Amino acid sequence: MTTHNAVPISQAKPSESISAPWDVNSWKTKLTAQQVIYEDQEKLNLAVARLETLPPLVTSWEIERLKSLIADAQQGKRFLLQGGDCAETLADCTADIITAKLKILLQMSLVLVHASKQPVIKVGRFAGQYAKPRSSLTETRRINNQETTLPSYFGDLVNSIEFDADSRRPDPYRMVKGYKHAGMTLNFIRSLMEGGFADLHHPEYWDLGFLSNAALPPELRESYQSMVSNLSDALQFTEALGERDIGELHRAEFFTSHEGLNLLYESAQTRTVPRRQGYYNLTTHLPWIGERTRQLDGAHIEYFRGINNPVGVKIGPTMKKDELLTLIDALNPTNQTGKLVLITRLGAEKVDKILPMAIEAVNREGRIVLWVCDPMHSNAETTAQGIKTRRFYNIRKELEATWDIHQQLGSHLGGMHIELTGENVTECVGGASGLTEADLSRNYATACDPRLNYQQSLELALLLAKRMKEA
Ligand code: PEP
Ligand code: CO
Repeated sequence: MTTHNAVPISQAKPSESISAPWDVNSWKTKLTAQQVIYEDQEKLNLAVARLETLPPLVTSWEIERLKSLIADAQQGKRFLLQGGDCAETLADCTADIITAKLKILLQMSLVLVHASKQPVIKVGRFAGQYAKPRSSLTETRRINNQETTLPSYFGDLVNSIEFDADSRRPDPYRMVKGYKHAGMTLNFIRSLMEGGFADLHHPEYWDLGFLSNAALPPELRESYQSMVSNLSDALQFTEALGERDIGELHRAEFFTSHEGLNLLYESAQTRTVPRRQGYYNLTTHLPWIGERTRQLDGAHIEYFRGINNPVGVKIGPTMKKDELLTLIDALNPTNQTGKLVLITRLGAEKVDKILPMAIEAVNREGRIVLWVCDPMHSNAETTAQGIKTRRFYNIRKELEATWDIHQQLGSHLGGMHIELTGENVTECVGGASGLTEADLSRNYATACDPRLNYQQSLELALLLAKRMKEA
């Protein structure tokens, strides 16, 4: 692992506690945002103890490998693609659902590789994306003509989505169950990746029907069709070279990520490993800190500042310059390469007001970060029928604006973070396939935020690919 210490730490000093000694449990002395309250302390202790004894899901060398790839991406030599469900569920742990998610992510990555002529780091928002922060601790519904208030659904790691008291009661053993399902998911992904994933490199398995849809302006359609046709030729050519020769296609590397929200779960598998210094979170390669839990003096920053994993942090529209620099100092005080991934989610309307300030501050201070765009989380809206959705138009607008602003400021967008599924869901409106608000109820299946479906995801990759080619 390379480190980079030559750059002075910024003037914005981290608070004193951030330079205090750290241990796996030091976060417990801080205020925990989004903390789950478990009723049965004994059951909780047993669940955490069990979690601690299970074998890790990932290894320190995989984590260090990802860090070195992120370091490359920080220099503009790779692009990071991160995607998956908003809330992965235990029921999603099926061959079909996992295969479909992997397929769309790998196909998007091929589109981007082909356009940018750069390798893509593939990171799933799955194999452990089971914990959800919520804006309200409780949810109220009218049941049998009576207002009923229950705890909100905090993801399958905590409670169950059904609206009854038993289902919504946090159950500590769900952490163990979640961990095992993450393990099964990852095991299947590793097998698929190891064996070569046929759907990926046979163009006939790509579902490109939406390209002929009328909702696409002719100029865009032509450009997408030509990209896809060039890509198909390239895939056929590499196929013809022989099954085992093409490393990127047949033995593609894959990494996992999830929001490190439930610190009991995260810290139970945070440990030292032989012949390496420091602590690793071995539940996932790339844990990230959500927008609701990035308080500088909070438990999440305290936990994350002590682990060796690369760390993602969401940057929302309320972020101020000094706060950003202090956050960076807290999470990466020695300005290591490959360590910090800033995931901006600013919204189509605000991105051009806030992103330039953030980029300029980071550049001025010489901080090494990877800029990733999450064009999903500040573009949510509720339809007149009360359905939570996102417009493809706004997602596209934020992504393109983010790309352009980086270019204008001599920076570069190094990754994209998307909520997606490989299924044919109807949760986000717009895109070439022409989904409208009236379509939303047809197959609205998410356990949390609305996701792009297969066609919308592929279209977004084509759109970014077009930008990359033009750069
Ligand atoms: C998420 O990624 O699902 C999420 C909750 O995002 P954010 O923290 O950016 O709101
Ligand atoms: Co979400």
